[in-house]
Amino acid sequence: MMKKLDNHRLRFATREYLPIVTGGMGVDISATALALTAAQMGGIGHISDAMLPTVVDQERRTSFVRDKLQKYKYNVANADKSEVKFDLEALGQATRLHVGSVMEAKRGSGMVFINCMEKLTMNNPAGTLKTRLDSAMDAGIDGITLSAGLHLGTFALIEDHPRFHDVKLGIIVSSVRALKLLLKKSSRTRRTPDYVIVEGPLAGGHLGFGMDWADYDLKAIAAEVVAFLAEEGLEIPVIAAGGVFTGSDAVDYIELGCSGVQCATRFTITKECGLPDSVKQEYLKAEEEDIVVNTISPTGYPMRMLKSSPAIGSGIRPNCEAYGYLLDRNGHCDYIDAYNAVVAQNPKEIRVYDKTCLCTAMRRFKVWTCGHYTYRLKETANRLPDGTYELPSAEHVIHDYLYSTDYQVHRPPLKAEIV
Ligand SMILES: Cc1cc2nc3c(=O)[nH]c(=O)nc-3n(C[C@H](O)[C@H](O)[C@H](O)COP(=O)(O)O)c2cc1C
Repeated sequence: MMKKLDNHRLRFATREYLPIVTGGMGVDISATALALTAAQMGGIGHISDAMLPTVVDQERRTSFVRDKLQKYKYNVANADKSEVKFDLEALGQATRLHVGSVMEAKRGSGMVFINCMEKLTMNNPAGTLKTRLDSAMDAGIDGITLSAGLHLGTFALIEDHPRFHDVKLGIIVSSVRALKLLLKKSSRTRRTPDYVIVEGPLAGGHLGFGMDWADYDLKAIAAEVVAFLAEEGLEIPVIAAGGVFTGSDAVDYIELGCSGVQCATRFTITKECGLPDSVKQEYLKAEEEDIVVNTISPTGYPMRMLKSSPAIGSGIRPNCEAYGYLLDRNGHCDYIDAYNAVVAQNPKEIRVYDKTCLCTAMRRFKVWTCGHYTYRLKETANRLPDGTYELPSAEHVIHDYLYSTDYQVHRPPLKAEIV
């Protein structure tokens, strides 16, 4: 029998899903339409919980961001951001509005999960994380994927929620060590994760590795995690992520003991993805040498992006009064220091290269974060006579993962061929 991803299913207890998960991509890159398509087709789609107040403002003309900025306007020129706090009531409301509308629109037999990054410390790490997770559960989310952090205290933070044992809970790890730590620290809650996503060094967004990321290999880490869970007698589905570009790549991971794959890069150029179309064209045009891993994210994690990202070297004033998602518990973000150092040297021409104001840059789609294989996206779309590419649908990409063989990708039929 030909190796095909469609020959496999991802099982959670007694239910079966397509073994394909669309990865969480903030801010609003893994948009509602993308997650709903994955769920409609019987797979799992992620939305992201990054900066939901601003996402909701744009969707519904609410004023969460304006209200916060209004409250802290007096502090805009102050380097000390310790007073700038999120109103937990408003944060919960924004989360419930967004998640509620996604879940209401959900059709089909799949599930919608939310990706929740611990690194969004929001000047009150435990309080804001709890509010985001509780509110997502209140609004009916099917599952929560904990990411960008070790989440050692996160299970305990939400164990009093009535849905704690019913919501699917998963974690993204990049090593067996991180998984062992989570299991140890969460054991008191008598709750193991329902799935583990093992993310390797070729993923998009932030990497769970240092700048030595190229020394690591997803296959080796996934095999280690599978072996560890088997030794412990834990039947937890393992989902491989990072550089899974074809259906055959996905089958390789299933043969290694994984139960599914999480993919993001292939979906960044789909019609349903939240990036502006002009940015999708940048991804499609990219060559391998146009993609870098750098340290401009104030989170401290390396991040992969296109070299031409407009955020690199931009020097905007820190925008924490409006956003402030990366402020640590003391109201500090590394971008503020980098910005102030440049201002002290040359206030006339402010170009900050060390770090970027990530909240503002992600919100405005100025950090073109992407996976390693972005340079192969041009193989997956039709080039039009004017040099631009026709954007495939998410449904086409999911079908391609399910049915392609021999490590091939298939372009969608050209519009002219359909008629
Ligand atoms: C544009 C983009 C944004 C991403 N943003 C996030 C994020 O906000 N949180 C997260 O946990 N992972 C993020 N990721 C990682 C993906 O969810 C996924 O695990 C990974 O990219 C899969 O590898 P692939 O892109 O090679 O398919 C992002 C990936 C991309 C391409």
